[in-house]
Amino acid sequence: MLSRQVAEKLRAFETPFYLYDLDLLEQTLSSATSVAQRYGYVLHYAIKANSDPRLLEIIRSHGLGIDCASGNELRCALEAGFDPSMIVYAGVGKRDKEIRYAIAQGIFAINCESMEELEIVNAFAKEAGKVVTVALRINPDIDPKTNHCIDTGQADSKFGISWEEVLEKADFIKGLSNLRVKGMHLHIGSQIRELHVFEYLCHKVNAIVDNLSSLGFELDFVDVGGGLGINYDFPENEPVPNFASVFSIINSHLKVGGREVHFEFGRAIVAQCGELITSVLFNKTTATGRKLVIVDASMTELIRPALYGAYHSIENITSTSTKNERYTIVGTACESTDVFDESVGLPMTRRGDLITIKSAGAYGASMASRYNLHDLPPSVYSDQL
Ligand SMILES: Cc1ncc(COP(=O)(O)O)c(C=O)c1O
Repeated sequence: MLSRQVAEKLRAFETPFYLYDLDLLEQTLSSATSVAQRYGYVLHYAIKANSDPRLLEIIRSHGLGIDCASGNELRCALEAGFDPSMIVYAGVGKRDKEIRYAIAQGIFAINCESMEELEIVNAFAKEAGKVVTVALRINPDIDPKTNHCIDTGQADSKFGISWEEVLEKADFIKGLSNLRVKGMHLHIGSQIRELHVFEYLCHKVNAIVDNLSSLGFELDFVDVGGGLGINYDFPENEPVPNFASVFSIINSHLKVGGREVHFEFGRAIVAQCGELITSVLFNKTTATGRKLVIVDASMTELIRPALYGAYHSIENITSTSTKNERYTIVGTACESTDVFDESVGLPMTRRGDLITIKSAGAYGASMASRYNLHDLPPSVYSDQL
């Protein structure tokens, strides 16, 4: 929790803003990379989670590569100094200019998500006079036991190619002469807290890789995606996510067979180091008796609660009251779903108090919008305080 002293220093900055704890980011990266090195795993950071330049600088200094999901994310990663040979590019709908750009940059792999995409990447590679390394993003049909809005690997999902289709069209894929199919990729969803899901994922990957090998694909790497969840309920209890457990599960259950194993974590790297600091504008009570606290942030700074009912722990960091009240915390946007918490217990909260919305470093600033022509939220870093 932020100390009273820090909270008072925050008053120097105009709210709302994202506050990033750079020491916690360093600790998180040290934890992830030290265990990954033990097993020889390759880590990419899913830049969609947060592309703040100072965070990227620290992430790069720890030797991670990048997983990107658009041409602009790829450009951002290159401008931040990431090596193209450490960048993978997934995405169900890559535009023509984005595919051509990725081919020109010579990135590690384009993770292809449909037969038509494979054909187009092959055609554009031919046009560029190149042979391009790709991974097949396969939909393994796994329930990741998470919020259904963020699961991506069930049979009916838009992501990846069904295993049946790969089997049926294996010869066609092998005939695409400007592609080198060197990897298999999957990403089954985000905020996975039931870690046994990763064990199940390994069994699926083992079977798929065995089958791909028997079909004549010579795979050099397996990319098992991201998805490791964080503790949104009690962030102080688990500021650094449990990388050791997930790597140990993968190490025990994945048949590696000399291949490189890649991961693409986003949330687990940056979620806990960021919080959204906002000021209370007004209090009011509805006709039904509900006490509303209206803050100066909204879904335009942090859309996760409105978009998929995500929970973030909220605290009043400046109130000195000893009296607790139950409040609904709402934002400024002209949308009824712009609610940060329907019912949270806080010390008596008044205009001007500072509120923190925690665990907001991932998919917060990167999903911000200019709806209602709000300004995009600025960043404040712990070393500025
Ligand atoms: C292909 C891919 N890889 C990695 C990630 C990162 O997931 P997470 O932030 O849960 O680690 C995502 C998230 O959407 C993704 O789509």
